[in-house]
Amino acid sequence: MKVTVNTKREFGKRSPMIYGHFIEHFHRQIYDGIFDPGNALSDEHGLRTDVLEAMRKIRVPIMRWPGGCFVSSYHWKDAVGPKRTPLFDKAWRVEDPNSFGTDEFVNMCRKIGCEPYICTNAGTGTAEEMSDWVEYCNLESEGQYAKQRIANGCEKPHGVKYWSIGNENYGDWEIGAKDAAEWSRLVCEAAKMIKHVDPTTELSAAALTDLDWNIALLKSGGQFLDWISIHQYWDAIQATNDLATYEQCMAYTHNLSDSIDRVRGLLMAMGLDKTIKIAFDEWNLRGWYHPNVHSVRQGIDKADYLTQRDDNDINSQYTMADAVFTACFLNTLNRNCDIVGMANYAPTVNTRGLIYTHRDGIVLRGTYHVFDLYVNELGDTVMDSFTENQPEMTVTHKSGEAHAVTAIDMLATKFEGEKKYAVAVVNKHASESCRLQLALEHFQPSEYRISSVLATGTEAYNDVDREDIAIHRGDWTAWTDTVTVAPHSINIIQIR
Ligand code: AHR
Repeated sequence: MKVTVNTKREFGKRSPMIYGHFIEHFHRQIYDGIFDPGNALSDEHGLRTDVLEAMRKIRVPIMRWPGGCFVSSYHWKDAVGPKRTPLFDKAWRVEDPNSFGTDEFVNMCRKIGCEPYICTNAGTGTAEEMSDWVEYCNLESEGQYAKQRIANGCEKPHGVKYWSIGNENYGDWEIGAKDAAEWSRLVCEAAKMIKHVDPTTELSAAALTDLDWNIALLKSGGQFLDWISIHQYWDAIQATNDLATYEQCMAYTHNLSDSIDRVRGLLMAMGLDKTIKIAFDEWNLRGWYHPNVHSVRQGIDKADYLTQRDDNDINSQYTMADAVFTACFLNTLNRNCDIVGMANYAPTVNTRGLIYTHRDGIVLRGTYHVFDLYVNELGDTVMDSFTENQPEMTVTHKSGEAHAVTAIDMLATKFEGEKKYAVAVVNKHASESCRLQLALEHFQPSEYRISSVLATGTEAYNDVDREDIAIHRGDWTAWTDTVTVAPHSINIIQIR
């Protein structure tokens, strides 16, 4: 197969925020996850130092919090200051001690070195409660909420720039779900009040690929919005945990940009594509396993929805299927860098996340290594490129439908201000390697090096006792235009 990069044609500069993350008050993500006071590995604020260090290594640019479904009945005022009022979390049906609130979250972000991105309660919450939250975080000292923050020991404003109005408020599973007309009304009022408190905030609002929902929202709220939020989990196993096989996961790579294309098309049709960008602010190959919890059926008790959540933490579930899919979607986000300005992997810690925590340490799952590779080895400017003689493979989707998908997913980038390129090459094929011929038009390379996420087989995984998925970093070597990539591998070829 031949890959040609046109080094004279830049497609666009991608935002670092497409490598963003999301953490929710769900199961062991916060409590007994990143926030674990009393654990020997935690710092004076109860934050796990090993997790913070792992996040810094992948240069987390932005972190969305506190939900997810959790936020739609969350009242931030109960989780600031010395007296915390425990909350019964109506989304996940558990008690939350509220000991991790706004100040703890912002402090955590500052320690990681990332931007905080707060998602507001647009379920049971009001526009006023949302804008009070912005007062608390961003005003110097005017008003009761900024004064409260100062009294709570945070003299300087938190300076939270990114805010989302709501989470999935279109869904019947969401507490306080709305119809399109109710939604656009609430978004306008909330945005107006938030921007009156702090006009430098950037606002997003919950949306999906549905035309009616988005048209209603954008017609009235478009003037206030900087972002439109969309979510996607391809392997929708929230109720069943019947994980798609490696081959079935490769079928999900067919038409990966579908949601982006639809939302982009609408933004363009409405003349908003220059002012509103897509925040793909929850994504993961696999939906989180939480059966029965959104049900209102009688006869469902705790045993039907609580213990199953532990199954999300079985590390053997996170194989090269997750790693390869993740790399393919990161390529898609990069290719759409003109319209996607932010994306948040859901979640970062535990559940289906990159990092699994246990009492004595962490496990970096294969998906963590993919982020490490992309964030630390790939360039920041997406270049025009094309392929010839792409190997194809036919894979069977979970639905039984057969799809022809390309075996290679590639992306060409350049490092701004340097004569250095990096090409990401994902080989989805389960068993066949691929020989690539690389051509860089208008550029004569002298050296190259390849760094790869590799594993012994498609079913490999990392756990407390094994590291079967790892990064292999190669050395700079004299240029040759032909390289071979291993089956089920993710590779970044740097060229200078
Ligand atoms: O399954 C987790 C949930 O997925 C998040 O809370 C929600 O935003 C999405 O539906």
